Amino acid sequence: MQQVKAVVALAKGAPVEVVTINVPDPGPGEAVVKIQACGVCHTDLHYREGGINDEFPFLLGHEAAGIVEAVGPDVTEVAPGDFVVLNWRAVCGECRACKRGDLQYCFNTHNATQKMTLEDGTELSPALGIGAFAEKTLVAAGQCTKVDADARPAAVGLLGCGVMAGIGAAINTGAVTRGKSVAVIGCGGVGVAAIAGSALAGASPIIAVDIDAAKLEKARELGATHVVDSSKVDPVEEIKRICAETYEGAEGADVVIEAVGRPETWKQAFYARDLAGTVVLVGVPTPDMQVPELPLIDVFGRGGALKSSWYGDCLPSRDFPMLVDLYRQGRLDLDAFVTEEIGIDDIEAAFEKMHHGEVLRSVVVLP
Ligand code: APR
Ligand code: ZN
Ligand code: ZN
Repeated sequence: MQQVKAVVALAKGAPVEVVTINVPDPGPGEAVVKIQACGVCHTDLHYREGGINDEFPFLLGHEAAGIVEAVGPDVTEVAPGDFVVLNWRAVCGECRACKRGDLQYCFNTHNATQKMTLEDGTELSPALGIGAFAEKTLVAAGQCTKVDADARPAAVGLLGCGVMAGIGAAINTGAVTRGKSVAVIGCGGVGVAAIAGSALAGASPIIAVDIDAAKLEKARELGATHVVDSSKVDPVEEIKRICAETYEGAEGADVVIEAVGRPETWKQAFYARDLAGTVVLVGVPTPDMQVPELPLIDVFGRGGALKSSWYGDCLPSRDFPMLVDLYRQGRLDLDAFVTEEIGIDDIEAAFEKMHHGEVLRSVVVLP
């Protein structure tokens, strides 16, 4: 067992605190990782606000990269010294999804078996089974994905959650390719990543929609060919008009990605989609939200697919190393997602900036 500094949400709605926690030595199937960088995500704030569940105290942080310090007996997938991005999809290999070869949908992902605790022995609930706003954390070995060590931790750690969700929503769930048109509604970290993913895949046009002009500017930098300020114009009509410029007769985009998580923007996505097109919901709704009322004939009449994307339908062992390589080749600008590097004491301030939409990602960097 060892003691490290970590960021914990002790009670619903209370500001987070930096405290000392106990990290057990890794047991079978486990690894201890020295964290180098961890992004601040909306989900961390949702945990703190009690919006996920009531299992306080939470050890926050889950978009992280670091170095494996120690592994338990029997661990073969990673070794001490490996540079890894942490994931929350350690696949089981045995559930019905895994057995049919769809590991990216594994229904029985796992985390470390042992518990990290507060100094007094109170068990911690690590955010998404990770808990990486900490000098070191204990995870399942399968949550460590080895990637090229020659990459900036603050940038590639973001693949652990939001950026992977966005890129995967486009490439994996939406099956975006060359020759397809894409619209992305909501250009925060997730939406902009969906734009970057669409650009990687060679889609055109790539239409960014947001109500915030600064977000649209960022979207352009990451590959949007057109931007639409939906606080000023009807985004559905604009998306249709832009797509018809490229593809004569198009009635919308082939793939529309909803990265806000609200009924009204999902409805815009639904109607901004071309015949046989795909809607991908990657924004996370709250439990009280309902599917907007729609004529069923409109669902039937357009054909195509209405999908949702969980963690970008990623398979970390397949997607993380590939995306890190593209980053190192200069084809995927992960640095653009890092708005600021902060210290472990600055997380409340980062939540505040996130709340005001000032950042794509604040990333905690540890010495
Ligand atoms: N129309 C268009 N864009 C909107 C609208 C709207 N009605 N309302 C909000 N937005 C934009 C915001 O201006 C912001 O740029 O959606 C974006 C949301 O971005 P972030 O708040 O930074 O969230 P992000 O990290 O990208 O996550 C998006 O996925 O993980 C979930 O909880 C997260 O639901 C959220 C979504
Ligand atoms: Zn499985
Ligand atoms: Zn996240």
